[in-house]
Amino acid sequence: MRGGSTVAATDWISVMDDASLPEGGMQPAYPRGLNVVMARVDGTAHAVSGACAHMGGPIFAGSLAVGVITCPCHDWRFDVRTGEFLDAPEVRLAVYPVRSENGKLFINLG
Ligand code: FES
Repeated sequence: MRGGSTVAATDWISVMDDASLPEGGMQPAYPRGLNVVMARVDGTAHAVSGACAHMGGPIFAGSLAVGVITCPCHDWRFDVRTGEFLDAPEVRLAVYPVRSENGKLFINLG
């Protein structure tokens, strides 16, 4: 990235204040109308699809423990860092790159 510290507005989208995502917490976000869940694990913010890979259930309404999101609908479990469904890693949630700058979290939808 040119200049090394400035987020290019065309690639990265501000989704929330960095401080509003606590350790072990999840928050829904809707950059450009896309359903995304933000989660913080071991101090690092992650972004995954907010629609479950099973039947599209609301991932943000599930639980997060030890880096694993459990969907509230049928208890499918996903690693929030990779998006992988723990019982069949070939099934996964979309994962988006996240960065923090100037107190904001940005994601890259690619
Ligand atoms: S919709 Fe998520 S486990 Fe079924």
